[in-house]
Amino acid sequence: MASNFTHAIVRRPSHSVCDGLTTSDLGKPDYELALKQHDDYIEALKQAGVEVTVLPALEDHPDCVFVEDTAVITPSGAIMDRPADPTRTAEAGLMLPTIREFFPDEKIKQITEPGTLEGGDVMMVGDHYYVGHSKRTNDEGYRQFAGFLTEWGYTSEQVPVTNILHLKTGGTYVEDGHLLVSGEFKAAPQYRRGQFSDVFEVPDEEAYGADCVRMNDKVIMAAGYPTVKGQLEKWGYDIIEVEMSEFRKIDGSITCLSLRF
Ligand code: GLY
Repeated sequence: MASNFTHAIVRRPSHSVCDGLTTSDLGKPDYELALKQHDDYIEALKQAGVEVTVLPALEDHPDCVFVEDTAVITPSGAIMDRPADPTRTAEAGLMLPTIREFFPDEKIKQITEPGTLEGGDVMMVGDHYYVGHSKRTNDEGYRQFAGFLTEWGYTSEQVPVTNILHLKTGGTYVEDGHLLVSGEFKAAPQYRRGQFSDVFEVPDEEAYGADCVRMNDKVIMAAGYPTVKGQLEKWGYDIIEVEMSEFRKIDGSITCLSLRF
C-alpha cells in the first residue's frame, strides 16, 4: 500500500490544542505555530501525490488533530477505533461520516466497548499487523481488531508498549523491508529480524524521529533528526522534512496527523 496512496484525511488543530494530553515537559503548544506546522504537513502530503481532505477543528477535543487514532485503514476496509482517553473517545464517531464518503458500510468495522484501540498502536507490515498493548489499546480492543483482520485475510500479533504512548511512537515500517526502531522496541522479540531486510536502531537522542510516514515515493519525517534522515537517505528515499515541535509537546508524532489510503 505504501506505493499506492491517493488520499489522506487530516483535521485542523483546535485552539484547545494547547490542552492536549501529554507526558512531556516541553511546554504548551503555540496555536499559531501549530497551524503553520499543520499547513506544512498538508503541503508535504500533497507533494507526496495525495488528495488531502481537511476537516475542521473540534474545539471540545484538544487532541483532535491526531486523526490516526480514530481509524485504521487497511487495503480491504476501515476499522473505526475506540480511543481510550475519555477526552478522545468521541473523536472516532466524529470521523465516521468522512470515512463513509470513501468506504461502503460493508467495508467499515467498529471497535466497541469495552475494547479500546488507537491507530497509533497499529503498524502494518505487508499482510501482518503489529498492535501495541498499551495504555490506550487493551486486550479486548485487540481481540476485536484481530477478528476483523482475520475476516479480511490478515494476521496480527500484540507487542507490549511500556514506556511510550503508542507502538508507532517507537518506530515505523518504512516498507521495502526497512524498519526503524527506537527505545524498548530495539529488543522486541516480535520484530523478528529475519522478516526485515534491514532494521535501523535509532539512537535515543533521536527517538522522536523514528516515527515517519512513507507515502508513494516520499518519506515525510520530523525535521531535526539527522541520523534518522541519513539512514533513510542511505536506503534511497526522497525525504520531506516537516517541523513538528508543537505537536511533539503533546506526544504527537508525524503519523498521528493523518489517515492515509
Ligand atoms: N496527545 C496525544 C494523545 O495523548 O492522545
